[in-house]
Amino acid sequence: MIYGESGSGKTWLYKKVLKNLGVNVYIANLANASRLKSINAEFSNLVNREKQARQTGYSETKKADLSAGIASGGLQHQNQYSFSEKEPFEACLSHIRSLSGDGQAILVLDNLESIRSDQNLLTELANIITLLDDERYAFYKINILIVGVPGDLREYYQATPNLATVANRIRELPEVSRMTLEQCKYLINQGFIQELKYSIDNISDLESHISWVTDRLPQRIHEFCLELAFLGEKVGRRIEFRLLDEADKFWLNQSLASNYTVIESMMNERSTLVGRRNQTLYSLGLIEVEEFKWSDVESILRREFPSSTNNLTLNIPQILSGLSTQDNPIIKRSPKGDAYCFSDPKYRMCLRAMLRKSTNYDSVEKLPISDM
Ligand SMILES: Nc1ncnc2c1ncn2[C@@H]1O[C@H](COP(=O)(O)OP(=O)(O)OP(=O)(O)O)[C@@H](O)[C@H]1O
Ligand SMILES: [Mg+2]
Repeated sequence: MIYGESGSGKTWLYKKVLKNLGVNVYIANLANASRLKSINAEFSNLVNREKQARQTGYSETKKADLSAGIASGGLQHQNQYSFSEKEPFEACLSHIRSLSGDGQAILVLDNLESIRSDQNLLTELANIITLLDDERYAFYKINILIVGVPGDLREYYQATPNLATVANRIRELPEVSRMTLEQCKYLINQGFIQELKYSIDNISDLESHISWVTDRLPQRIHEFCLELAFLGEKVGRRIEFRLLDEADKFWLNQSLASNYTVIESMMNERSTLVGRRNQTLYSLGLIEVEEFKWSDVESILRREFPSSTNNLTLNIPQILSGLSTQDNPIIKRSPKGDAYCFSDPKYRMCLRAMLRKSTNYDSVEKLPISDM
């Protein structure tokens, strides 16, 4: 099992590594299983897709044969692709084995999050995993790689029947985590300077900003840098620091618009008052850990807004509880219930790119995108 935040590079990573190792990879998409209400249906789909691809290739060859006047050899071939009578999972393993010869082969079940709330499919998955050491299935020597996001993994385990049996057959790889600061800087440099030949005014400020707002998730870094590259192109392929506000806006608009709308609806209306809720939202953006307690938020808030909090009781638990029980909550309680986490990591990025401390008395402003 491989897991990591959305956009951290799981799919890219397993494809690249397995290709380098010469492993044959076949991908079943659990999003499709969810749509078809059955993982087995997606296995049948996978087999049919592969067969069709091969048959198309074959009939094209046959056409070429015909035109060359030697059809008979090609027609014999066709029987080889008759559909098997095995049940879908075994048929899928058997088909993969026949395509892979003696080579190593992996069946990937990508997007575990798509079936997280479907108890029937989770049970089906548990059964599939349990079958793996049944001789009839183990015979094909196909490994399975399950791909998912961290939050769902916990929920997945909680909802899995016969957990001990299933867990006993799973090996979790270390999390595909966000990039390190060094990797993020490398990517920015590689893109703007090596590949695009842009000139950059103050590279270290740029690196800090990008790694901060994107939380160093590769996909978000790519998205942000794309917006910045478009802006820089218009001013002579040059990136100046003042372009970053613009890039924030475009990026919020292109990639985080739905998150922006949700956060906007949670803000205090009047930014002139000391909006405690706005201050709380701003402070949430500064949180760096996955799970946090109200006391963590309060200490950030007191640090960031000292003059409006001095000697006052703040009631942060109540504000957080309110934020977690609204429609489309941006935070949710951790499974144990004593802490919170973001319901989607994009909210943290959105808070970072969207909210600014204003020069006014301890208040918080949003970067407007409605005029775009
Ligand atoms: N180490 C890396 N360096 C540069 N780009 C990367 C790196 N890892 C991933 N990417 C890029 O980031 C993007 C997202 O990667 P990928 O689709 O593999 O994420 P994922 O974890 O599978 O996301 P999801 O959970 O949404 O499926 C891709 O465009 C990929 O090329
Ligand atoms: Mg993926």
